[in-house]
Amino acid sequence: MKYDSRGLPVTTDSDAVIRAIDSYAHELVSLGSNSALVRAAADSNPGCAILQAYAASLFLYSQTTADAKRAAPYLSRAIERLGDLTEREQVFIRAVNAGCAGDFESALQLYETIAERWPRDIVAAKIAEFHFFETGLARRQLDVMSKAAAANPDISHVLAMHAFALELNGDRDRADEVALTALAIDYDTMWAQHCRAHVFAGQSRIAEGIAAMEQYAPSWNRYSHYVISHNWFHLATLYLADLRFDAVSSAYRKYIWGVAPDAVVEHTDAILLLWYVELAGGKVDSEWREIAPHIRANARDHLFPFLNCIYLYALARAGESKEVAIAIAEMERHAQRQSGELAHVWQRVGVPIAKGSIAFANGDYDRAADLLGPVLGEVACGGGSDEQRGVFIESYLVALIRAGRKDEARSALTDYIADRPETSLQRRWSSWI
Ligand SMILES: [Fe+2]
Repeated sequence: MKYDSRGLPVTTDSDAVIRAIDSYAHELVSLGSNSALVRAAADSNPGCAILQAYAASLFLYSQTTADAKRAAPYLSRAIERLGDLTEREQVFIRAVNAGCAGDFESALQLYETIAERWPRDIVAAKIAEFHFFETGLARRQLDVMSKAAAANPDISHVLAMHAFALELNGDRDRADEVALTALAIDYDTMWAQHCRAHVFAGQSRIAEGIAAMEQYAPSWNRYSHYVISHNWFHLATLYLADLRFDAVSSAYRKYIWGVAPDAVVEHTDAILLLWYVELAGGKVDSEWREIAPHIRANARDHLFPFLNCIYLYALARAGESKEVAIAIAEMERHAQRQSGELAHVWQRVGVPIAKGSIAFANGDYDRAADLLGPVLGEVACGGGSDEQRGVFIESYLVALIRAGRKDEARSALTDYIADRPETSLQRRWSSWI
């Protein structure tokens, strides 16, 4: 038995294994570009069960069912040894196993147990954060991250997770405060910089947000493409709120699309940004056709509904109506096979949003508004972050405007702006009504 740098017992006699575990924990929570090294460490130390589970956890981030299955050899080596392990290691391995099988709720319950009993386990908290993203369970996310932050006040990356959970719960003032505390500990806390982008957008602090993100941007270059692409996505949406279409287009070409065109994380940033451009009245055309060949298979995967909705929108905009028809039919069949809470998520929320997104893409604005409007309040359960799910709210609003439903459009815009300062983009929508 040895202990990792968080003081957690690990069933191993190897110092090299402990170094590999500490390195993975750091890379994962700091969004470093070397987290994949854990796979080589797991291959070299097949007898360390939790190291196998760490290697397996990497496959979760692909956001594809096929890649999650590639975790199987690591998981079976971990599960074989389950009886010899500490209780925390056992719970963690079962959690990763559930996550890789697409059973996010079971995985989350196990990670919640870890947060309660072993809150120094920052790897468990980070992976839980990802499943919370896939399920939209922001309240429970905040509970886990509050415990993690209280137990790890010295780790800026854990404070950043707490800040982001606050943001997703609408407590943006406090989120910004905690993110700034994390950045004071370590300026290169990427997740804290990213959290602030959400806060700036959520509070419509556009000029301040652009200035801060542009100041942070040079530090993104030595991180993985995911960090660069996603942070630029956020900066680009701030440009869009100012109607700076040229700056958006330049960010898209330079930092967002084309680096890893088969990766779901890149699809998400690219599709959402193009969708937001269209919602703002900008023109997008060849970009959809560039993306389409890379997303056809993803549109038929069923991990969480948010992904299907954005893939279907992109394929519809690329003119791939046959692919759209097949993928929405498969999504409906998948929804019908679900039971319990998942039946609600897929049948009552996911499918209407997907169909509303397709209708909007095809210019059938009355139908889009009728499908999206009734489920907007529940859209979080389909997954995605608040800013990503904003496309559905904005599509509903723009659908009402384009369908000529002026009173409903005015009321939807007033609700959307709420108590925030009005942006140039929102003024443009007002002028369309
Ligand atoms: Fe984000």
